[in-house]
Amino acid sequence: MTDAVDETARLASTFDDASGDFDRLTPTVWGPAGQALVFQLGPGPGATVLDVCCGAGASALPAAAAVGPTGRVHAIDVADDLLELGRLAAAERALQNIDFVCADATTWEPPSTVPEAGYDVLAISYGVFLLPHMDAAFDRLVGLVRHGGRIGVTVWRAGAMEEISATLFDVVGRRNPAVAGRPSLRKRTPLRAIDLPRTLEAWLAAAGTHSVEVRTLSNLLPATDELCWALVTGSGLRAVLAGLDTDAVAAVRAEFLAAVTERGIHTIDATTLVGTATVRRPPATV
Ligand SMILES: C[S@@+](CC[C@H](N)C(=O)[O-])C[C@H]1O[C@@H](n2cnc3c(N)ncnc32)[C@H](O)[C@@H]1O
Repeated sequence: MTDAVDETARLASTFDDASGDFDRLTPTVWGPAGQALVFQLGPGPGATVLDVCCGAGASALPAAAAVGPTGRVHAIDVADDLLELGRLAAAERALQNIDFVCADATTWEPPSTVPEAGYDVLAISYGVFLLPHMDAAFDRLVGLVRHGGRIGVTVWRAGAMEEISATLFDVVGRRNPAVAGRPSLRKRTPLRAIDLPRTLEAWLAAAGTHSVEVRTLSNLLPATDELCWALVTGSGLRAVLAGLDTDAVAAVRAEFLAAVTERGIHTIDATTLVGTATVRRPPATV
């Protein structure tokens, strides 16, 4: 297996493990960003939407509501257990125009039901920076969208989630030295290239778009024990708990929450950038 395939398999397993607690974060974290992204993208009735790294559907479900029964949403992710949560949520809302499909975003090919010109809308909430070779993967996905179609991403703003993840890595690092030196998501992934309004704006424009808009969704959450621990067990941070037995996880939880208090962390910064743009295709040459 190549490194990229290995990494995607690791992410799938981490997010499958996180699925039990993932939805605890939907009301305060995933949900507001997904709603904001869809609002800014503005898909209309009848539109065909591709939502990659869809998780449990934080942006795919509102997109399905926006496009209505004549539209269609293809919601794809590599974590089967999150997709199942999405299917249940869609059934609860009686949404029949959304397909949750287990597939890798980097190799997704639209089925023949998608118009030849391409999707009307592409949405990626908190996922683009997880894709191997982010720029090339994004360009390929933008290529699946028609001229005049809309594309949008959400990403953590610089500094968001940093304090809480550093605290977790310090605590877990006492047991597992490999984690002590673990770089933050910002340093580990290409997130740092797109986590300021101006850098995200330039990056979206470079993908062959116009009408780029980047808005900041301020999201400062009270650092309750419940939220702090859900951020560990219900997100990609969960990867650092892999290999620990139940007693060790309980000990990490206690030490982590004590460290949050000792460090005076009262607020979790979940501030997010919501970036959208319109696709411009060069005229075809004959
Ligand atoms: C932080 S979650 C965000 C989920 C959802 N968009 C939301 O906002 O709630 C990132 C998601 O990206 C998915 N993911 C990571 N790499 C992927 C890939 N190559 N193809 C498809 N999904 C991927 C993970 O499985 C995970 O569900």
